[in-house]
Amino acid sequence: MTDIQSRADIDQLIHTFYEKIMVDKEIGYFFTEVVKLDLNHHLPKIADFWETTLFHQAKYKGNPITPHVAMHEKSPMTQAHFDRWVKVFCDTIDDLFSGAKAEMAKQRAHSIATVMLIKIKTVSNS
Ligand code: HEM
Repeated sequence: MTDIQSRADIDQLIHTFYEKIMVDKEIGYFFTEVVKLDLNHHLPKIADFWETTLFHQAKYKGNPITPHVAMHEKSPMTQAHFDRWVKVFCDTIDDLFSGAKAEMAKQRAHSIATVMLIKIKTVSNS
């Protein structure tokens, strides 16, 4: 198994992750009901986010917290939801890749999820 080395690898990771997460029993509804995602628009943005995070390419210019705060106000997001997101993401990485970037991606997923949930709770005051 090889490490995450290129945009093509990130695209593969993101597509595989979304195939699983969109039909996930615990959190799939966020992607299909709470927000009705246009994947053609969404997936390249998510891949940009990870390219920026892992390879320091200045591709992603948004604020990842804002849409999650809006989502939380429509349908509350809990620690259990974030734990599930992180588990499916990390399992997908382990299925496909192995190496320093793979480890970094899992670690970043954990830490961003932790910060995101704290910020969501602070901003929405619930
Ligand atoms: C329970 C956990 C999560 C759920 C259900 C979730 C779901 C979603 C959904 C439905 C969107 C689209 C929102 C919209 O366009 O209105 C979105 C956007 C996004 N998510 Fe998450 N997410 C979760 C956690 C995370 C985590 C932990 C990360 C990063 C490690 C992340 C990164 C992003 C990014 C970068 C975007 C795009 C933001 C933008 O539009 O600029 N998400 N998420």
